[in-house]
Amino acid sequence: AAAGAGGLLLTGCTGDGRTRGTGASAALSPAEALRDAPVGGDTVPFHGAHQAGVSTEPQAFASFLALDLDPEAGTEEIRRLLWVLTDDAVRLTQGRGALADTEPELAVSPARLTVTFGFGPEFVRRAAGETAVPAWLKPLPEFGIDRLEERWSGGDLLLQVGCDDQVTLAHAARVLLKNSRAWTSLRWRQSGFRRSRGAEKPGTTMRNLFGQVDGTVNPRPDDEDFASTVWAEDGWMAGGTSLVLRRIRMDLDEWDRVDRSARDSALGRRQSDGAPLTGEDEFDPPDFQAEGSNGFPVIPEFSHVARANGGDARPTMLRRSYNYEEDSGDDAGLLFAAYQRDPDTGFVPVQRRLDELDILNQWTTPVGSAVFAIPPGCEEGGFVGETLF
Ligand code: HEM
Repeated sequence: AAAGAGGLLLTGCTGDGRTRGTGASAALSPAEALRDAPVGGDTVPFHGAHQAGVSTEPQAFASFLALDLDPEAGTEEIRRLLWVLTDDAVRLTQGRGALADTEPELAVSPARLTVTFGFGPEFVRRAAGETAVPAWLKPLPEFGIDRLEERWSGGDLLLQVGCDDQVTLAHAARVLLKNSRAWTSLRWRQSGFRRSRGAEKPGTTMRNLFGQVDGTVNPRPDDEDFASTVWAEDGWMAGGTSLVLRRIRMDLDEWDRVDRSARDSALGRRQSDGAPLTGEDEFDPPDFQAEGSNGFPVIPEFSHVARANGGDARPTMLRRSYNYEEDSGDDAGLLFAAYQRDPDTGFVPVQRRLDELDILNQWTTPVGSAVFAIPPGCEEGGFVGETLF
């Protein structure tokens, strides 16, 4: 392939460590270049019954962008907006530039890019009227531990952009924002990270910034009850889900002062390997009844996992969180993301218990909160959100 006309100019090392062209350069087409880029070349299908980015194995990076609709945007404008953004997302996730993309070169390495759309209550109301708004699509009840800030809360349209590469992600987010500008404005943007792809074995449970293994007890896509926990069944939402996104600040400085055994008691699991205090392995089921020689439960009743579990036989939500850290150094924590058929039966009862008692609350503070309806996916030629119209 000739350099220039869409080809990539590569010199030096290839992704697998071989040296190419001994000092000379070789021009590769994007497809050829990606053969040596096992991370960059991976794509996640866009079309399907469900939107990608929920049951997708979490990518290394995610940005959550919340947009507000302009006051004059009505049904027709919303429909057009969704059509344009779907078209952008289809192309970008498959490694192509968007229409009229000024930097299509930045799209050639999709790196499992996904774009997931979410709708706030006002968005649904404006598109399809009050009756279309699911009963649970509203701000969460107030919790005693909340210290919510407007600048991290609410929003009409969510774009959740996940990717194993930051450059591809930044480009995709920019294209989507640019093409939303006619009818929306950016309300907030929150970005998070996990370990880079290739930095650990695939499928390893993530660690949060407290050092804890976070995400062990979670429904898996091949579990029998995954669909009934996560996917909605009724009306325009059938095949969709809901997202509760909480920005939870974590006080890393205070946590530094807590020793290992107090940390493990606060969680009910060991920081070292994520195993419950009553087990050996990360995936051993915790025994909340087991008592130590002092007669107290081995997993303390005030611990995060005892309170979060609350006797639930199975998880009631899919947790798919990301770490965040502001450059200022004084704001770090978790972009806690929970997906479930209905937040009133998924997230809310668990948060109520944790609000009442959870020793981990000493070091964590919810500062942002938003709830979105994640509509179903669409087939080729359709657009996300079409079931609303
Ligand atoms: C379990 C950390 C907030 C719900 C866990 C675990 C960790 C953890 C390390 C154990 C491993 C696992 O199963 O994932 C945190 C931190 C939080 C936080 C650091 C705040 C910064 C929340 C919130 C909720 C929640 C807000 C929901 C309202 C759960 C549930 C489990 C869990 C349901 C599994 C409990 C079980 O064993 O059945 N969390 N969590 N967590 N967390 Fe959290």
